[in-house]
Amino acid sequence: MGHLEVAHVDYYLPDGRLLLADASFRVGQGDVVALVGPNGAGKSTLLKLASGELKADSGTVTTSGGLGVMPQFVGSVRDERTVRDLLVAVARPLVRAAALAVDAAELAIMERDDEAAQLAYAQALSDWGDAGGYAAETIWDMCTMAALGVPYEKAQWRQVRTLSGGEQKRLVLEALLRGPDEVLLLDEPDNYLDVPGKLWLEGQLRDTAKTVLFVSHDRELLAQAASVIVSVEPAPGGSDVWVHGGGWPSFHEAREHRFERFEELRRRWDEKHAQLKKL
Ligand SMILES: Nc1ncnc2c1ncn2[C@@H]1O[C@H](COP(=O)(O)OP(=O)(O)OP(=O)(O)O)[C@@H](O)[C@H]1O
Ligand SMILES: [Mg+2]
Repeated sequence: MGHLEVAHVDYYLPDGRLLLADASFRVGQGDVVALVGPNGAGKSTLLKLASGELKADSGTVTTSGGLGVMPQFVGSVRDERTVRDLLVAVARPLVRAAALAVDAAELAIMERDDEAAQLAYAQALSDWGDAGGYAAETIWDMCTMAALGVPYEKAQWRQVRTLSGGEQKRLVLEALLRGPDEVLLLDEPDNYLDVPGKLWLEGQLRDTAKTVLFVSHDRELLAQAASVIVSVEPAPGGSDVWVHGGGWPSFHEAREHRFERFEELRRRWDEKHAQLKKL
């Protein structure tokens, strides 16, 4: 079931601005945790730091159990990628490497169809089987049936940009939820989903045995699926990341209390400062 731990992470943007200051939180085995905060607060950046796509300037990220990642752009793919490419991109590294080797061998055979190229192609297909490629295709068949209503055999060469936003999201969610990775990082998984799709996602996140960190702006999904809220709040010295263990229903009250405590501390500090100045 895996875990994720982010400890004392600082991250500077390329323009030198401190985006995240001393960010720490843990997603324990089997927990479903939501990352919330206004646009631009740093939620996607925090997920990219957690997945290793970006590197923190200080602090550490540790994970166990294998990471499955759905970036925020899924739903708005506009390039040449096919359904197969998208499924390969979220597959385990061994399957991913074997798929790329099959692609390369196919390309080589198209350019020069000699015995060496044919042998290399046969080897790549055999490696595809050894890497669990055919088993992955069985699962992908369930994914395309669920998301698109067609078998993988028919769906695999279709361009992702011809799928609707909701279909793109659903396809990747199906693959990650059915896949081997125990920790899922989902950036706005509910975006583009219609009402039945959102209800499906709520149910999946409630029932899954996986460890999940997801970003969402949807109050209903937050209320239904998250047991812990990690809040990313913009501040001049880098966004403040804090953890509320009580879920969404009590989040706003906890946030108010937090601000009141800060105000109280600031008031005491001002008083103390004024006293010291008089001495
Ligand atoms: N390469 C970059 N150069 C400069 N600024 C950047 C870069 N990448 C991200 N940012 C800035 O970092 C901030 C955080 O971006 P991020 O995508 O993490 O926000 P977010 O919390 O996911 O927002 P949203 O809810 O809109 O998805 C934003 O102000 C963004 O403009
Ligand atoms: Mg984002």
